[in-house]
Amino acid sequence: MLSVADIHVEYGRTPALMGPSLRVDAGEIVSIIGRNGVGKTTLLKAIIGLLRVTSGTIRLDGEDLSRLPAHERARRGLGYVPQGRMIFAGLSVEEHLLIGADLNRANGRALLEEVLEEFPRLRERYRQRGDTLSGGEQQMLALGRALVGGPKVLLLDEPSEGIQPSIVQEIEAKIASISRARGLAIVLVEQNIELAVALARRIYVMEKGRIAREIAPEHVMDEDIVRDYLAV
Ligand SMILES: Nc1ncnc2c1ncn2[C@@H]1O[C@H](COP(=O)(O)OP(=O)(O)OP(=O)(O)O)[C@@H](O)[C@H]1O
Ligand SMILES: [Mg+2]
Repeated sequence: MLSVADIHVEYGRTPALMGPSLRVDAGEIVSIIGRNGVGKTTLLKAIIGLLRVTSGTIRLDGEDLSRLPAHERARRGLGYVPQGRMIFAGLSVEEHLLIGADLNRANGRALLEEVLEEFPRLRERYRQRGDTLSGGEQQMLALGRALVGGPKVLLLDEPSEGIQPSIVQEIEAKIASISRARGLAIVLVEQNIELAVALARRIYVMEKGRIAREIAPEHVMDEDIVRDYLAV
C-alpha cells in the first residue's frame, strides 16, 4: 500500500531524515517509536508532503507521490492526524468535519455519517467549537477530520499525547476498529509503548533520522522486549 524508500529531508542545511524506509500494507497497523527529536514527526510530514524530500520515493499503490503537493497526496488517499491535533480555533466540530469531507466530494457525506456513527461524542457536540472540546474529544475530532476524507493510509502522530489513560484506551479501541472495519493501513507514531504494542503488527525503531531496527510480529507483543529494543 504505502512504501517509503530512502528519503532525505533537511531543515536548512541540517539533515533531519537520512534515508528511512518503511512500508505498511492494507489493513495493517505499524508503529514508529523513538526518543524525542529523532525525526518521527519530520518523517510523517515528509510522507504527507508538508516537507520537501531531497531524494527518495514515497509510493502509494505503486505511484510515486514524492513530488506532489500535500493536497494532491491527500486526495490520493493519505490521511494525517498531526501531533498536538491542530484543531482550528473558532471552527465548530461540524466545520472541521466538512473541511475534511471536502477532499472526497464523491462520498464525503456518506463518510461523514459513518464518522458520526463511530464517534457519537462528535455528533452530540456537532455545533460546539472545536477548541472548547476536551483533549480526548479533540483527538477524536482530529481522527474524524482525517477519516471523512476517505483515506487509504492514515498517519497518526502521537494520538495519546497529553490524554488521560481511560481516554487513551478509548482511542486505542477506535483505532483498532477503524483499521478492521475499513482495511485501512495505519502508521502510528507513539511514545506510549503500551499503546504501540497493543495495536501494531510490526514496530519500527527510529534513531537520529533513520529507522534503526524493525521489530518482528513475534516480538511486538512483549512490552519488555520492545523497551529493550528502544534502549539499544
Ligand atoms: N521547522 C524546523 N526547523 C528546524 N529544525 C527542526 C524543525 N522541526 C523539527 N526540527 C528538528 O528536527 C529534529 C526532529 O524533530 P521531530 O519533531 O521530527 O522529532 P520527533 O521524533 O517527532 O520528536 P517528539 O517525540 O518530541 O515529537 C529535532 O532535532 C528538531 O529540533
Ligand atoms: Mg513528534
